[in-house]
Amino acid sequence: MTGNGSGERSGPPPGAHLWSRDGFNGDMCVTVRPYPIVDYTGVQGRHAPHRLGIDDLDLLDRTDPAALPTVFATSRKDVTLAASARSTPTPFVWRNAENDELHFVQDGELDYVTDFGTLRAEPGDFVCLPRAVTYRVVPVRTPTLRVIVETPEQLRLNPPAPFGMINFARDVKRPDPGRSSDQPGPTDLLVKAFDGITRFSLPYDPLALVAVVGGQIPVWTLNLAAIQPLSYLPHGGPPGSFAESSSRDLLLYTLSARPGARPPMHHNADYDELIFYFRGPGAYGALDRPGQLAWTPKSVSHWGPVEDVPEGYLAWLVESAGTFRLTPAGHAAAHLMETGRFDRQPEPAEADPAPVSA
Ligand SMILES: [Fe+2]
Repeated sequence: MTGNGSGERSGPPPGAHLWSRDGFNGDMCVTVRPYPIVDYTGVQGRHAPHRLGIDDLDLLDRTDPAALPTVFATSRKDVTLAASARSTPTPFVWRNAENDELHFVQDGELDYVTDFGTLRAEPGDFVCLPRAVTYRVVPVRTPTLRVIVETPEQLRLNPPAPFGMINFARDVKRPDPGRSSDQPGPTDLLVKAFDGITRFSLPYDPLALVAVVGGQIPVWTLNLAAIQPLSYLPHGGPPGSFAESSSRDLLLYTLSARPGARPPMHHNADYDELIFYFRGPGAYGALDRPGQLAWTPKSVSHWGPVEDVPEGYLAWLVESAGTFRLTPAGHAAAHLMETGRFDRQPEPAEADPAPVSA
């Protein structure tokens, strides 16, 4: 269960509770509470915090090469979260007509063979594939596990300063045009639009490339470990986002270990918080198994665990203005979550069995 504050560092003053707008960027008010306000003993309804293991989802493309990633959550702003455990090359090429895609590689290695050449992705890599980019995926080391965020808005890197949080020259990588696709024969192209998939039969490989002769390749990759957490010393402060969608419906952060005191209890007025624990060795609260998602819907009371973990850990956060809901596939792998350590909410004690009447 959630801590009572004893023996734990909450930012001064003790019992602090933060109400904030626009994520961590707008109006705010801090109060002091006599006891934690994040505990609950029961909940009914859909706007409830959950956690799930990405690998616990029933991922159809684990065994079916023709299957698509499994959507496990959707937002009111048409953002989707999906997961893939693809073990064989995609037998088609893919183009998203509606959404920018941001992939996160939780496990394995994959080649993204794109319009602009090939990109090798490893664990911890974000891979951004904007609308109308055509690609296929070739697993290089299996098993693979990926989280795929789709947004109808344009995603872009936008750290607080042009250097510091991200070393663009060193760490933002683009596909190698010298490693172009070279598939013989006809190719199936799947184009995703708002109402489903349209399948084109093509006589040639549409990814074959002669040269890139102008502009900047729009596909990029960046490893989570290369993004420096923003810290305020000595007492701590909010994280800083490194990427966002055009209306700031989505904000992306590293939420990896960093110095500072434990955050205050929080009511996030405008954003759902979706925290993905990538790996340790240190734990983030009760999150200690790679590939765990902790989802706290907007306005639900929560108290972020201690982030100043000597062993270190890597985690990322998606703030979403669009309220999320789990799909049936997501619910099948999810559990109610308490919001003090992001552990599973204990099951309510079973009622005493009714006495047997004579
Ligand atoms: Fe929060």
